Amino acid sequence: MTGPIRVALVGCGAIGRKHALAVEQHPAFALVAAVDPVEAYSAALLADHAPTSPEPAAYSTLPDALRECRIDLVVICTPSGTHLDLAQQAVDAGTHVVIEKPLDVSVTRAAAFARRAANTGKVVTVISQHRFDPASVAVARAVHDGSFGRPTSAVASVAWWRDQSYYDGGDWRGTWRLDGGGALMNQGVHTSDLLCWFLGRPVEVQATASLLAHERIEVEDTVATTIRFESGAIAVLLATTAAYPGLTARLQIHGTEGSAVIDNDRLEYFHSAKSADHHRPGGAGSVTGGAVTGNQAEAEVGFVNTPAGPHGDQDFVLGHRRQYDDIARAITTGTEPGVTVDDALLSLALVRSIYVSAAVGERISVGEVLDGKYSDVHLDVLRGTRGK
Ligand SMILES: NC(=O)c1ccc[n+]([C@@H]2O[C@H](COP(=O)([O-])OP(=O)(O)OC[C@H]3O[C@@H](n4cnc5c(N)ncnc54)[C@H](O)[C@@H]3O)[C@@H](O)[C@H]2O)c1
Repeated sequence: MTGPIRVALVGCGAIGRKHALAVEQHPAFALVAAVDPVEAYSAALLADHAPTSPEPAAYSTLPDALRECRIDLVVICTPSGTHLDLAQQAVDAGTHVVIEKPLDVSVTRAAAFARRAANTGKVVTVISQHRFDPASVAVARAVHDGSFGRPTSAVASVAWWRDQSYYDGGDWRGTWRLDGGGALMNQGVHTSDLLCWFLGRPVEVQATASLLAHERIEVEDTVATTIRFESGAIAVLLATTAAYPGLTARLQIHGTEGSAVIDNDRLEYFHSAKSADHHRPGGAGSVTGGAVTGNQAEAEVGFVNTPAGPHGDQDFVLGHRRQYDDIARAITTGTEPGVTVDDALLSLALVRSIYVSAAVGERISVGEVLDGKYSDVHLDVLRGTRGK
């Protein structure tokens, strides 16, 4: 490929604008098309992020853009339930594809797409920007290379706050058809994806969900679940958008020879009995026990948590920029991206299993959900909790 990778951005809303910024800041990419049925959104995005050369154009549909413009990479930033129809159009046109998380809202649709995407010869990947945080990379490496011994358990919580205007601000938000769920599918999915990356295949879940602090949405704003992994490890996960004023996304992972804590993407604690510093006292059981916390944790694993970046309030795109590095590498070298469609499918199946469990009130096998069982279950996860 000569010249920059020519990008069509589909969906010019909140996250589309972040992608426009990440693309603008990345020398390997050039924005050539902004696609949105609402002309004002594509126009506003191009007004802020258009390079002078090549000059990008606005389109109201993806087929229009694919027909009229030379595009190497289609980036899909539309409501979650629309992702795979658009991704299939891009695949059919022979482009590389980046899909915002989640892969889609339907496991059946996602599994069929995963089979087709495997044979395109193009890079097809899904955004999971927290897999590229240095803290996540260090913890994944420690778990996978045995530094923590046998992984035994994890405690994860996404305790955020979204006020009612967030759900009222887009008619797709909080709907099963287009959002695919609430606090877990939209907000907690990053953390559940990290759990899969760290601990491997989830096999069984038992969940409960409620709508506690919002109105006029079909989905949960609070869900708690246990997850059992193929390795035998057990995790608990809470995802909520009802934790005023909004606390952190926190993931604590434990093994027989080490543990780590990531809080809001930063490595807060790290201890491995196998590391050079294992004689340091106080590591067991306490983040404040004088072991390997804060800056020491960074030193232990050889990186520094990311400070406020050179891009100021644009720092929210730091994770996306890191993933764009990976996408550029995969496209230019013709190799697998860091996040595969199968990774995202597993992550989606975990989320759906949690919803099925909350809806039917039973322990649910993730493998059966992946195989299409329960695809017709009406996900009334709030059954019996309304009005309380
Ligand atoms: N990775 C992350 O951290 C992150 C953060 C926020 C949102 N997201 C994901 O990004 C997606 C979009 O979320 P958002 O908050 O930007 O929503 P949004 O409502 O702000 O923007 C969606 C945009 O898509 C446009 N659109 C709808 N259908 C379209 C179509 N067929 N073709 C082209 N454009 C179309 C809408 O007009 C709108 O401008 C969701 O799947 C969400 O889960 C990911």
